[in-house]
Amino acid sequence: MKQSDLSNLVQPFHVMELVKHANALEAQGKPVIHLSIGEPDFPMPEPVQQALIKAVADNKTRYTAALGLPELREAISTYYRTAFQVTVPARQIVITSGASTALMYACLALINPGQEVMLADPGYPCNKTFVQMAGGIPRFVQTREENNFQPSWDELNQNWKPQTAGVLLASPNNPTGTQLSSSDMKEIVQEVAHRDGFTIVDEIYQSLCYDNTAQSVLQITGAPCAQWPLVVINSFSKYFGMTGLRLGWMVVPDALAPAIERLAQNLSICPNTPAQWAALACFQDDTLKICEQRRQIFKARRDFMMQSLPLAGIEIQSTPDSAFYIYAKAPFDSERYCKELLEKALVCAVPGKDFSEHRGTTMMRFSYANSMENLELAVERIRRFNSQT
Ligand SMILES: Cc1ncc(COP(=O)(O)O)c(C=O)c1O
Repeated sequence: MKQSDLSNLVQPFHVMELVKHANALEAQGKPVIHLSIGEPDFPMPEPVQQALIKAVADNKTRYTAALGLPELREAISTYYRTAFQVTVPARQIVITSGASTALMYACLALINPGQEVMLADPGYPCNKTFVQMAGGIPRFVQTREENNFQPSWDELNQNWKPQTAGVLLASPNNPTGTQLSSSDMKEIVQEVAHRDGFTIVDEIYQSLCYDNTAQSVLQITGAPCAQWPLVVINSFSKYFGMTGLRLGWMVVPDALAPAIERLAQNLSICPNTPAQWAALACFQDDTLKICEQRRQIFKARRDFMMQSLPLAGIEIQSTPDSAFYIYAKAPFDSERYCKELLEKALVCAVPGKDFSEHRGTTMMRFSYANSMENLELAVERIRRFNSQT
């Protein structure tokens, strides 16, 4: 069968090969420790679990409106007001099947074939695919370690071309666990708007931050509008620990909402209905308390890893203050290092290849979405392995 050019363009996740290898070792009874995982190791918070069970028992399983359950859009609007002191009308909030679908809708609504979109390198591997699905061309902008691997407006400006449509950023970012400062964010969004471009800001790791209070670009701009041509992406996957429920949201300018609604109607009809009802429980005090306790646990793990990985022979120059990732220098070629670390020390961390065009072979990502006990064991194994190589 003849396949489309697009299907051939889509890259596999190289890391999955390593994870498959790790799983095979585990199947042989070998106690692999996973520092490869991009999701919280905690279960869904209990009140959300209960709300999900109730939604199914109450037969809340039919389609909802394409833009999502009005109650949930209102709840997110209230959350922006209470947690971030920013007014975002519910009509500008669209519920999606995870941040993934929100990113896809944003790209389909904003990019014309042949247009370029700037992406920070390193970054989330799927972003280039979302751009390509719209016929766009991803333009990777190399970032600097001393800037915490986040781009400056100068770096983006140097890459701006007549065919550039806009910029897609993540703050906090994956694989780096670092954020853009609000002054840099403001400059980027402002300058991109002056060039008649769009900015998409992925805030999926927003509330998993450890050194400062959580931030949103919306605190700088207010709700997206003609003056601030911005789309903000978020998700219930990470902070609320609901990866498998596939639920997220996007904040869009009023003018873009009809296009997003048509895309949603055609491409997915609506997001998962029971998950939407369950997500209402995310904003209850008891759930927020659980999420806050988990954030503190992640912070303690981050502190432990930042202290102990360098002592185990891993060089880290950036300051990961968010998400659950540390982006570090591999002691030698990152693909070979991660393979040997897995086979000889039974620690599965991931090479940089999926995340970066420029640093794929030199950098690697550690995830600390694992228990402190496992992290301590993993670091000791890494130390022993590094001292022998
Ligand atoms: C930066 C970033 N954006 C988006 C996603 C997709 O998340 P979701 O589960 O909400 O689709 C991920 C998942 O790891 C991510 O790291």
